[in-house]
Amino acid sequence: MERKGLLIAFEGIDGTGKTTQIELLAEVLRQRGLSVLTTREPTDGQYGRKIRELYKNRKSVTPEEELTLFLDDRREHVAQVIAPALAGGQVVLTDRYYYSTAAYQGATGHDPQKIIAANELFAPVPDMVIMLDVPVSLGVHRVQKLRGEILNDFEQEGPLARVARIFAELKGSNIRRIDGTGGARTVHALVMENVAELFPALR
Ligand code: TYD
Repeated sequence: MERKGLLIAFEGIDGTGKTTQIELLAEVLRQRGLSVLTTREPTDGQYGRKIRELYKNRKSVTPEEELTLFLDDRREHVAQVIAPALAGGQVVLTDRYYYSTAAYQGATGHDPQKIIAANELFAPVPDMVIMLDVPVSLGVHRVQKLRGEILNDFEQEGPLARVARIFAELKGSNIRRIDGTGGARTVHALVMENVAELFPALR
C-alpha cells in the first residue's frame, strides 16, 4: 500500500508515560493542521480482547501461543487501522508496537531480533520510535501508586527488568531514547525536539 503519512511508535515499559505523551503530541500536531490518528496495542479487536484476558492468568497460554496472539493482533491492527491511515496521509501515533513484542515476548525466551524480523514482513517500519526510559522501580510505582492499579501479569518487577534490558539493547536509526523520569511537560519538550525532524517531509 502506498505510504504518504508518518508512523510514530511510543515504546517503553509500563508506567513510562506513553499515553500522556501521545495525547500531548497529538494536540500539537492537530493545532498545526495535521490529521492525526492515535491508536494502541493491544487493540480492542478480537485478539486484543483475548490478550487482556491474559492479564490475570498469563500462565494459561504457552510463550508461543502468547507471541502468536500479539502477532495476530498486530496483523489486524496494521490491515484495518495503520496501513489505511498511512495511505490516507495521516500521522499515526501508536501506543506500543512491535518493539514491545520484541521486549516482552523476548523476555519469555524468544529471540528479539527474530520477533522484529517476523513483524517487518507485514508491519510498516515506524518513521520514528520514541522509547521512553524510566527505571523499572519508577514505572512500577507509577502504575501501582499513582494509577492505583494492581500490576497485571505482564507488569511484575522481575520480568519487567528483563523487558527493560531488551528495550535498552534494541538498535535502529529510527529509535530515539528519551528520559521519561521528568514531569509530563518536561518529557513533552524532549519528544518535540525529536519529532521536529520528521515534519519537513509533510509539507
Ligand atoms: P498496556 O500498554 O499496559 O495496555 P493497557 O492499557 O491495556 O494496560 O499493555 C498491556 C501489556 O501488554 C503490557 O504490560 C505489555 C504487554 N504487551 C506485550 O507483552 N507484547 C506486545 O507486543 C504488546 C503490544 C504489549
